[in-house]
Amino acid sequence: AEIINRSGKEKVANEIAAKVKDGDVLGVGSGSTSYLALLAIAEKVKAEKLNIKAIPTSLEITMFCSKLGIPVTSLMEHTPDWLFDGADEVDPNKSLIKGRGGAMFKEKMLMRSSPRNYIIVDESKVLDKLGTNFPVPIEVFPQALLLVENGLKKLDATEIKLRPAKGKDGPVITENGNLVIDCKFGEIGEGLEKEIKSITGVIESGLFMGYDLEILMAANS
Ligand code: A5P
Repeated sequence: AEIINRSGKEKVANEIAAKVKDGDVLGVGSGSTSYLALLAIAEKVKAEKLNIKAIPTSLEITMFCSKLGIPVTSLMEHTPDWLFDGADEVDPNKSLIKGRGGAMFKEKMLMRSSPRNYIIVDESKVLDKLGTNFPVPIEVFPQALLLVENGLKKLDATEIKLRPAKGKDGPVITENGNLVIDCKFGEIGEGLEKEIKSITGVIESGLFMGYDLEILMAANS
């Protein structure tokens, strides 16, 4: 099943690559799906000798860009022409949960900067209700941890967990030097993204609501 699933994503990766034009500045999301699209883009860029630049959203994707010979830039120098990214959950309103990989702050900055956004998902990510399979990741300035936890309790959080690191003791430290809380809510209402963001000490959340997106579905069969 995994192989079939992969081929569906590869098909969409090729669709993404087909959109690339000479001179484009591309926002590149993080995660395994974005990586597949990046591979397809690298092949096209090489074959057609295109000049593009990438704005990566994580160290991992920055390293893949270097390996694939794609020059990188940042939001300090360029605004993206368009971006592609994955997601952990998508609902019928095209609201998203992102941030399983901890890259949601840069992913959201990029999405706010980009006029065209392609989100690649397979059927397993498409759900009637956000929060079905994933908690909402929230990046938190370390000294504000208690402040943010208390603020989340007031927003009717049902479970608040500090994300533990893998391969090291203690919590995950993001690429921005912050902590990640994985938070479950009874109901993810329309205003929740803004309510979470309004707690002092919250850097950003992985809730993306009301963005102008095109969802590209990768078939599982
Ligand atoms: C990274 O922080 C996330 O927002 C990813 O975009 C998301 O987890 C999708 O990853 P996969 O494509 O690996 O499922």
